Amino acid sequence: MPAIGAVQEAVLLHLLNINLLMDLGAHPPEMAASIADSFAPNVEEECWKIYGQTTCFSLTSPWVNASRPVIRAPKSPGEIGTTFKLFTRLNDTFPATLDPGNLGTVLSAPFIPDRPFKVISHGYLSYGTVSWVKMMKGELLRASDQNVIVVDWSGGAQPPYTQAVANIRLVGAQLAYLIYSLNRFADVPISSFHLIGHSLGAHLSGHAGTYLRESYGLYLPRITALDPAEPYFNDTHTITRLDHSDALFVDVIHTDDSPILGFPLSLGMTQPIGHLDFYPNGGGEQPGCSGGMKCQHHRAITYFTESIRQSCPMTGVACPSYQEFMDGECWGCDQEHPCSPMGLESTNLPVQPLTKLFLHTRDRSPYCGYHYRVSVEVSNTTQARDHDGEFAIIHLRLVGNKDKSRPIQLSEKSHYYEAGTVHRQVILTHDLGHLETMGVTFEYPGSMFNIMSWRLKRPRLHLKSITVEPLGHNIAWRYCFKNEVQQAGMEYVLSSKNSC
Ligand SMILES: *[C@@H]1O[C@H](CO)[C@@H](O)[C@H](O)[C@H]1NC(C)=O
Ligand SMILES: *[C@@H]1O[C@H](CO)[C@@H](O)[C@H](O)[C@H]1NC(C)=O
Ligand SMILES: *[C@@H]1O[C@H](CO)[C@@H](O)[C@H](O)[C@H]1NC(C)=O
Ligand SMILES: *[C@@H]1O[C@H](CO)[C@@H](O)[C@H](O)[C@H]1NC(C)=O
Repeated sequence: MPAIGAVQEAVLLHLLNINLLMDLGAHPPEMAASIADSFAPNVEEECWKIYGQTTCFSLTSPWVNASRPVIRAPKSPGEIGTTFKLFTRLNDTFPATLDPGNLGTVLSAPFIPDRPFKVISHGYLSYGTVSWVKMMKGELLRASDQNVIVVDWSGGAQPPYTQAVANIRLVGAQLAYLIYSLNRFADVPISSFHLIGHSLGAHLSGHAGTYLRESYGLYLPRITALDPAEPYFNDTHTITRLDHSDALFVDVIHTDDSPILGFPLSLGMTQPIGHLDFYPNGGGEQPGCSGGMKCQHHRAITYFTESIRQSCPMTGVACPSYQEFMDGECWGCDQEHPCSPMGLESTNLPVQPLTKLFLHTRDRSPYCGYHYRVSVEVSNTTQARDHDGEFAIIHLRLVGNKDKSRPIQLSEKSHYYEAGTVHRQVILTHDLGHLETMGVTFEYPGSMFNIMSWRLKRPRLHLKSITVEPLGHNIAWRYCFKNEVQQAGMEYVLSSKNSC
């Protein structure tokens, strides 16, 4: 009975909307008057006048399908009340309001014609003066004297979620018209525009890209999507969401994949949708985010905002999976595993769209850092083979001529170090400069509950060498142990004298 299946799904997604609200600290709306009403619209499209131009919004497939069971028409431009505020260094406290319906306000606005335009769009239940938008705008203007346009569509970002999903289609058309006006009547090159959107604001930016292309033949150079919203966008037609055809370069930062109260969907999208899709820390749990999914969903904004200052690198490495990245299998920033900075400095790579890139971040500001690959080589002498491996947690202390690392624990749980094997791992720390010494200790997590750890002999490791490689430099520091037998609790210090 497929019909009942679809209705059930609609009910589930309505519940999801309410859950989304509760989790974001808002009051749930009245239960939608009638699911059936909105589920089966009796019109095929809804048309609104957008700055004098009639624009119609289809309410049929693919705008409605199993992944988008509830279809609504966008509200009227008057109800949404979109505003565009222009900030420059000179007009940081008193932004100018751009009203594309009144071309004079656009043409006479104090923008800097030959400087970039950064266009920031907020998401669901948010607004243009929210603190993260102010901070991002501030960082952009600190970095360079340019134009920052803030899109405020808060009147359309209200519950229910399905209505906000509909409204971004209209706001995207409005934004496209503004950009077209600046291009057509103020000679601002289309190559000046860079759209940055969070959550629903990311898909809004995608809609603007579609309108610019289809209505005006203009190709946006870049859209940056900060944890684009997943509900109603996963597994849907590309026209309904942001995708890599919406700009010449679409970079996406994914930071949340936590299920919403038992639903499989998360606030942030898991599927790759851009040219480059960055998954810091695997794109799910973010270090230092005890606040759960809302913290994670906002972390993409924080990473981007911090990237503007470039206090340290946020280098993503192209890799099929996070596990392979962590295991050091995608390394070198070469043709096979190219790298790109995440955030403001990101640029497209000669790779297929939907390329996934991975990186680690710190658990607090500054989140960026330097990646190193550490390889622990276990001895393959007869003695090592006779000993038959060992469970251990290895700790490292790296000292370079620039800085020293904090203590590094190579595995969270005890790891089995077997004769003749190499264990690789990618870690994040400060810029060490040229590596001078490394201190190596290991603990033996013996336990009466772990039969494997019942041993008569003293725990010992048979390590042969440790290699440390900084990401993106063709350098490897490989230091060998003088004696290939180590005891728990002792620190072995290796220096360049031990190079091998
Ligand atoms: C720009 O800022 C100046 C002062 O900083 C202010 O007088 C002016 O009105 C602002 N321009 C607009 C269009 O708001
Ligand atoms: C929704 O539409 C898209 C694009 O037409 C299609 O790929 C997808 O499978 C559909 N989703 C479902 C769940 O039917
Ligand atoms: C998203 O869509 C994909 C199909 O493209 C599907 O495999 C996956 O389970 C969906 N994710 C969620 C969370 O529903
Ligand atoms: C370890 O030594 C054994 C015996 O000499 C050999 O068969 C094996 O290939 C070696 N393993 C490695 C990884 O070198």
